[in-house]
This record gives sequence, C-alpha cells and structure tokens, in this order.
Amino acid sequence: MEKLKIRGGRRLVGEVHVSGAKNAALPILCASLLTAQDLKLSNVPDLADVRTMLRLLEGMGVKVERRGHEVTLNAGALTSTVAPYELVKTMRASILTLCPLAARFGSARVSLPGGCAIGARPVDQHIKGLRALGAKVEIDHGYVDAQASRLKGARIVTDMVTVTGTENLMMAAVLAEGRTVIENAAREPEVSDLAECLNAMGARISGAGTPTIVIDGVETLHGAEHRVIADRIEAGSYLCAAAATRGDVLVRGCVPHDLEAVTAKLAEMGAGLEQGGDWIRLSMSGRPHPVKIRTTPHPGFPTDMQAQFMAVAALADGASEITETIFENRFMHVPELARMGAKIRVNGNTAVVTGVETLEGADVMATDLRASASLVIAALAAQGESTVDRLYHLDRGYERMEEKLRVLGADVERVRG
Ligand code: UD1
Repeated sequence: MEKLKIRGGRRLVGEVHVSGAKNAALPILCASLLTAQDLKLSNVPDLADVRTMLRLLEGMGVKVERRGHEVTLNAGALTSTVAPYELVKTMRASILTLCPLAARFGSARVSLPGGCAIGARPVDQHIKGLRALGAKVEIDHGYVDAQASRLKGARIVTDMVTVTGTENLMMAAVLAEGRTVIENAAREPEVSDLAECLNAMGARISGAGTPTIVIDGVETLHGAEHRVIADRIEAGSYLCAAAATRGDVLVRGCVPHDLEAVTAKLAEMGAGLEQGGDWIRLSMSGRPHPVKIRTTPHPGFPTDMQAQFMAVAALADGASEITETIFENRFMHVPELARMGAKIRVNGNTAVVTGVETLEGADVMATDLRASASLVIAALAAQGESTVDRLYHLDRGYERMEEKLRVLGADVERVRG
C-alpha cells in the first residue's frame, strides 16, 4: 500500500496549476452515452476515479481513446447497459450512467452504490425524477433497473439539493419529449459545465447555475468538443495548504468566481488574497484567525472543503466552529488530526476546533478523499515527520499531488509499505 511521507514545517512558496475538475469530468464522460458520435474532451484530469469511469464505459462498449488530458469517447455501438457492482462500489458517481442509458437506450441496470464512509448517500431523488419522466424503475437484487420507451418531459422538484441527482436528471431530460423543469436544482459550477457540454451536443438547456433548470428535449444529440472546467476543490486545497504553512502561493488555471465562499473564509482567517482572471494568490503570515463555517450547497461553503479548513483552523489563534450540514458522517478526519495534536471536540454535526501553536508529525490514516487532503495539509504544517496511509483515497481526486507540492517546496515523497 502506498503512503505519503511528509517532513513538515516548510512554508509553501511558488506557483501551482490546477487540473480539470473531477466532479465535472465524471458526469461529462457519462454524457458520451447520449450520442452515437464522438465526444472530444480536453482538460480531463488523470485520476483514479476518471480511470474507473472509463473502464465502466468501456465495459458497456464505449470506444475510448485517451491521449494525456484529451479523451475521445464514442458510444455508437453499445454492447451492454449494465453498470456492475464491482465498479460502482468503488465509485458512487457510476450512478451517473443511469439516466443517459435510460434516455437513449430505454434500458439501464445500474448497481445501487450503497453507503460510503461519509454517510448513507441514497439515490432516491435520481429514481424519483426518472420515474417522473415516465421510466419504470425498480430495485432488483441491489440494482436499479430502469425501462422506458421515449421519456416524457415533466416538472421535477427534488426534496433536497443534489448535485449528481440534478446532473443525472438533466441527462435524462435532454432526450425526452417536451419540456422538463428541474426545481431546487443544484447550482454547482460542475452542473453548469455539464449543461454547457450537453448544449454543445445539441441539447436545449437553460438556467443551469440557478435553482430552476429548463430542458427542452430533442430527438438526438450529436458529437461535440468540450473543455472540462478547473477543479475548484483542488484549487481550494492548495490555498489551504498555503495558509496552514504561512506560505505564499499562486494558484493558476482556476475560476476565482467559483471559489468565492472559500476565499472569503481564508480572508477572514487573515490571509492576504489577490486574484486575476484565472488565478488566486494567497499569502499568510502569522497564525490564522478562528472562523465559523457552515457547509451548504453552492454558492455556499462547500462540504468538499470542510476537512481542509479544519486543518487550517487547528492552527488558529482561537476557537473555530465548523458545522457540516450535507453529510452525516464527515468528521472522520477528526481523530486523525487529533493524533497530530489538534484540539477538536465534536458535538453532533458541529466541531469546535481550538487552535494550537504547532501540530506534531504523526502516522495517520486517510478515511476518504477530502479527509486525506486535510491530513496532508496538517502534515505539511506540522513539526517533524508524518506518514499519510491509504493514499488511494487521495489518488481518487488529486492529480500528482506530491509533485505539485514538491514544486512549492514541500518535503514529500510517495513510499510503499
Ligand atoms: C456530489 C459530489 C461530492 C460533493 C457533494 C456535495 C460528485 C461526483 N460528487 O456528490 O464531491 O461532496 O456533491 O457537494 O459530483 N441525497 C439524498 N438522496 C438523493 C441524492 C442525495 O438523500 O437521491 C442527499 C445526500 O445523502 C446528501 C445530500 O443529499 O446528504 C447532497 O448529496 P449530493 O449533492 O447528491 O451529493 P453527490 O451528488 O453524491
């Protein structure tokens, strides 16, 4: 098993370039199922989750050509409409094949993802919406089984804001007959990026990025070219690493507008921030100030940045309060941060983080993707050596993280053992 060995206590200084967004790339790869023609994508990050999605699509007969960050997909001759448990269990985003398969082929059998480390994460809203569009959907031996003739447009109000739910239903509605309106839609930039790609393929979607998305169904979609947006969570993670190490880092290739909730909190913590069209520079001197954070759907503070901020708050000159409202079990990094000397008390869905002067290096274990980034950030700031075990979590969502950190002056290496 691979680990990261980090000798902490060095300020991060320099420039880092963010990769394409994992959470935009995954639904967009699934959008290839909606057309018989080529979908040519660029800025696709080289990540374990992307490789898993490509394997899943190839297993269905999608032809995949990959050259670096460019991927061309062709679903002209599909051989299967099944997403098997073996792949789905390793990546919940596999559920994003459900609606495109049902919409174009009238048949889909996708394993239920089940729970994961951060919570139960049901997909009932995906199913409810697909049923509203006229599909017959049943749960059968752990699989979601959908059958449909042509889907029919409908008004769908989701019970909560769901990112992949909104994306899945958008992909169902693009080929439905008539108009679909999704109310209470997720406003995440990744939803807008998917809509942009689908529109390039001939879909008629308006309102993506707002709570009401209107989709006028078309008969068929065609091939297109699309560039995946930058990963705002990766960008935010490097900003946190810079803040925790009292560094000075320029994050290039990001969309500052998509990171407003994150940069506002970093500014409250005392960071100096500058930004331009596609970059943000953060410099920090002294200890961070404590903050209050509450995770909410976009444009609020993202749950995917909560763990990384906790690592920064662990070093603050006072007590921070971090409330997680999206996932019920997303404090798994707390006991690991405590092993490094962090003082954190969890009460229900709120963590009170009393900052300490220094963290100490320790052997810690990653429990999920963003928790692993939090531990890396803490280890970079800590005095002495740390190892972060179960690196496969980190590799799901961060492209070449140790290389990018080394460029910024971190003492970090990937080791086996
Ligand atoms: C996506 C992101 C993930 C991020 C999350 C919240 C991808 C691939 N993943 O996950 O990184 O942390 O958004 O920003 O884009 N829910 C239901 N029923 C449903 C759907 C969701 O109860 O049918 C609940 C979930 O359990 C959770 C909340 O709604 O409590 C939001 O989840 P959702 O937005 O769907 O998260 P994902 O799309 O799975």
